[in-house]
Amino acid sequence: MTDVIDLRSDTVTRPTDGMRRAMAAAEVGDDVYGEDPTINALEEEVADRFGREAAMLTPTGIMASQTLLAALCPRGSELICESNAHLVAYEVGAAALIAAVQFRTVDGDAGRLGAAAVEGALRPDGFPYTPLGMISVEETTNRGGGAFHGVDTLREIRTIADARGVPLHGDGARLFNAIVAGGGDERAYGQVLSAFSFCLSKGLGAPVGSVVVADADVIAEARLWRRRLGGAMRQAGVLAAAGRYALEHHVDRLADDHANARVLATRLAEAVPGSVDLRSVATNMVYVDTGAVPAAQVVEHARDKGVRVGAMGDHLLRLVTNLEVDADETRRAADVLVAALAV
Ligand SMILES: Cc1ncc(COP(=O)(O)O)c(C=O)c1O
Repeated sequence: MTDVIDLRSDTVTRPTDGMRRAMAAAEVGDDVYGEDPTINALEEEVADRFGREAAMLTPTGIMASQTLLAALCPRGSELICESNAHLVAYEVGAAALIAAVQFRTVDGDAGRLGAAAVEGALRPDGFPYTPLGMISVEETTNRGGGAFHGVDTLREIRTIADARGVPLHGDGARLFNAIVAGGGDERAYGQVLSAFSFCLSKGLGAPVGSVVVADADVIAEARLWRRRLGGAMRQAGVLAAAGRYALEHHVDRLADDHANARVLATRLAEAVPGSVDLRSVATNMVYVDTGAVPAAQVVEHARDKGVRVGAMGDHLLRLVTNLEVDADETRRAADVLVAALAV
């Protein structure tokens, strides 16, 4: 471990010693033959936790979402999602190229969709209107600052999806943050989302991996797409072992990340009024308005003091608490950032 306090993302974490031991000890086989016992165990455990028929390991969150879009969203159809969704902002055109679908984006609240906004985006059903293929939500929202819908809101959106005969897809890269923060339990999310994925490699601290969860026929189709995309792996049980370890040891501790995010946010809001809207801090992210100080200057100043943060705009920073940053380091980082904002 280094002395640097890295708050750029929860993806920067490195496997812990315990996780590395679990990886080294993993039993493996060729997963293209369905013979990797550790991957099989991970997929069965995950499906069971969410009360669903099947699950599939993918190398990344983007591949996880893209296999579901390709499997479920007809070519030439439209996918309703929030304007700042990861699908739209950061997947470099994958949905257009792979599933060949178009986005119908809706401005939401902190990256969240609401039933009224979704209703408002529905086109009439039938020729010559572009058909609706899917509604997609992000839980928690990345560019929305870690906010979550919660299962009650998702049920309202699912009702709309059901009425139009389309699936409700969940990009649950940080779904466990929402679960730990009180959005709903695993079974409830498993029921309300038609098909979804979550990342092992974000707050859960695994080096690689996401898991897709859905009905068995959807997972069978998603497996074809994973193969087409070059994501069918061989002795990847070493990675699944990291994922199983993360699910066993790193879920409850997400509450520590959330508490640390609140400490950071509170300290900044008190010391630099206007920098943080405390109401926007729901999980492990804090967005900071740097005011008159350029964000790049804060990034540089903080880096010189051993704290790494990310600029998300000319005057906007994102801080993401994670398992490599404990409560003491959080307080130290807050002091450094307060000083940097005052420069
Ligand atoms: C909301 C969301 N979805 C998907 C992804 C993509 O995950 P990956 O980088 O594993 O492809 C990310 C990554 O940060 C994300 O924040």
